Amino acid sequence: MKKDLLTLEGLSQEDITSLIHRALELKQQGRQVKRSLMGYTLGLIFEKASTRTRVSFETAMFKLGGQTLFLSSGDTQLSRDETVADTARVLSRYIDVLAIRTYSQGLVEEMAQWADIPIINALTDLYHPCQVLSDLMTIQEKKGSLANWKVAWIGDGNNVAHSWIQAARIMGFELVLACPPGYHPSSDVMAGVGTNIRVVEDPKEAVSGAHIINTDVWASMGQEKERDQRLSDFCGYQVDQSLIDLGAPDALIMHCLPAHRGEEISEEVMDGPHSIVFDQAENKMHLHMALLEWLLGV
Ligand code: CP
Ligand code: NVA
Repeated sequence: MKKDLLTLEGLSQEDITSLIHRALELKQQGRQVKRSLMGYTLGLIFEKASTRTRVSFETAMFKLGGQTLFLSSGDTQLSRDETVADTARVLSRYIDVLAIRTYSQGLVEEMAQWADIPIINALTDLYHPCQVLSDLMTIQEKKGSLANWKVAWIGDGNNVAHSWIQAARIMGFELVLACPPGYHPSSDVMAGVGTNIRVVEDPKEAVSGAHIINTDVWASMGQEKERDQRLSDFCGYQVDQSLIDLGAPDALIMHCLPAHRGEEISEEVMDGPHSIVFDQAENKMHLHMALLEWLLGV
C-alpha cells in the first residue's frame, strides 16, 4: 500500500526515529549520497508562497538523483475547476510523488485518496508535518536525544503548533503552549491528548525550565487581513531575552521561519547564541531526502 504524509498522525515512534536517523546519516554523507531516486519525479503544487520548503524539496530530490516539476498556483487546470480526483489520477500517470502546499487540509486528503502515488502535505492551514519532522531532527542533532525535554510553544495555536501537538502525542515529550485567548490550538487537535500536553495563557509559565522554546509568526499565510488585530492581541507574547531567561540555561530557540523580527521574536534572541533557526532551515533538506526515500520505498 502506498504511503502518504498528510499529518503526523499515523506515524509511529519508530517511523519518526528512523526518518530522523536516516536524515542525519544523509546529512553526514554530504555529496557522497547514493543517487537512490534516479529516474523518479517529484511534483510540487504550491498555492502559497515558500522559500524553505520548495527549495529544500527541490534540492533534496536533485541530490538523490531525481527531478522535480514545480507547478505554481494557476499553472494547472485545478485553477479552472478540474476536479481534485481527476487531477490526482492524471498526475499519478506521470510522476512518482507529489507535495502540495495549500489552504485546505481536505484538498490534500482528497488528492491522497485518489492518487496512486504518495502525497506530501507541504503545509495547509491545519498542519505542517514536514516542518516538525525536521525540527525533531534538529533537536536530536543538538541534544543527542528526543526524550525528556520540555518544549514551550509561544504564540499562535496554528498549523505548526498543531503538528507539534501530534508529535508530542506520538513521542511523549512535554509540550506547553502559551497562546492568547482566542488563539488556542483547535479543540479537534487537542481532543484526547495526554497530560504531557497543556495549553496556558501565560508565556512565563510555558517557558519556565523549558529546554526548547519555539515560536512562529502571529499572522500566517492567508491571515494577512487580521494582521493589525493580531499584532495587538499577541502583545506580551514576544520571545525576547527576559522570557528566555526563565527557560533552562541551555535552552534552544526555534522558529520555523520566515520570522517577523521584532514581533514574535526579538532580533537579539533570533541572532543570539541559543538560536538554532538556520540549522532548522538546513535540516529541512536532509529530512526531506529521508522522507522521499521512505515514501518511495527505496
Ligand atoms: N518553514 C517553512 O515552511 O518555510 P517556507 O514557507 O519558506 O517554505
Ligand atoms: N504558520 C506559518 C508557517 C510558515 C512556514 C504560516 O502558515 O504562514
